[in-house]
Amino acid sequence: MTDLSKGALVVGATSSVGKAICRELSQRQEVVGTHHKNPGPTTVAFDLEGDDPGSLPIDWGNLGSVVVAGGLTKLDVCAQDPEASARVNVEGTLRVIRRAQQFGIAPIFLSSDAVFSGALSNGEPRPKTETDPADPITVYGRQKRAVEDVVLGSTGTVLRLSKLVSTWPEDGGFLPDLAARLLHSEPVRAATDQFLNLTWTEDVARVIGFAIAENLSGLWHVAAEPVRSRYDWSIGLARELGVSEGLVRPCSLSDFELDEPRPKDCSLDGSRLQQRLPWTLRTGDQLISDIVRRG
Ligand SMILES: NC(=O)c1ccc[n+]([C@@H]2O[C@H](COP(=O)([O-])OP(=O)(O)OC[C@H]3O[C@@H](n4cnc5c(N)ncnc54)[C@H](OP(=O)(O)O)[C@@H]3O)[C@@H](O)[C@H]2O)c1
Repeated sequence: MTDLSKGALVVGATSSVGKAICRELSQRQEVVGTHHKNPGPTTVAFDLEGDDPGSLPIDWGNLGSVVVAGGLTKLDVCAQDPEASARVNVEGTLRVIRRAQQFGIAPIFLSSDAVFSGALSNGEPRPKTETDPADPITVYGRQKRAVEDVVLGSTGTVLRLSKLVSTWPEDGGFLPDLAARLLHSEPVRAATDQFLNLTWTEDVARVIGFAIAENLSGLWHVAAEPVRSRYDWSIGLARELGVSEGLVRPCSLSDFELDEPRPKDCSLDGSRLQQRLPWTLRTGDQLISDIVRRG
């Protein structure tokens, strides 16, 4: 069992999921979180690109858990500069992971559905399990996979996440931003041919707490039910908001001008992890209701 009297390091503690992880872990452990450009109330500065993790103001010998939730997460940013983004997402990330392992800590690395090519089969999604081969088509996906390979080839946990949704008003994100536009009667385009699960940031944080407490190692998909297209999620949100569904304009992912082709099937099969968990992940439909009720 992980020694919970020891502290936790969360790299990337200022994203919505990073904040949720710090809240969750701080119920049981002393937590040090890091920021890069957006300091939080208690975070310490750390740049994965060049900083030595040994320079962090922490006692590595007294750490029990290391969670790597930081990095460059915008696919277009990674595509535009593969070398610079790899310095953060691969080299810097591996520096933290290897240092944790040197101190006998099994790191937890947050990965993504982007490790799959996302090809549809006969126009339909097929949620990927942990045994499906990773075959990324984007720079970001290849960077995530490179780190996964190191963690899975040594010690640690890889949590592959689907699209995250926070219900904290200040966090924004896919559903809250879409809701704001629909409430302003702004038409939105939504792809009918890109499919995804929506997963609550608080559930991801709770999974990390569970993984630490239960020494859950290896590869796990963290993804709530169900899988729908972006168009169908957007229509569901418009209905719940009581605004005209006509504001949601169907389109194809190929209609967007992007720096590189994107996966169309972003769906993950989260059932293996769900069977291990003592609670049920909040569904995408419940998250839509939560966000609309919250206002
Ligand atoms: N959001 C999703 O839907 C989603 C889906 C699948 C997987 N994930 C994974 O979940 C994790 C968090 O994603 P997110 O979308 O919530 O992230 P995000 O909002 O883009 O935040 C990224 C975090 O990394 C930090 N960061 C950025 N550049 C850094 C650098 N050079 N050195 C150190 N830290 C740096 C940021 O700090 P500052 O804000 O202080 O600059 C922030 O804390 C990532 O590993 C991502 O791959 C997210």
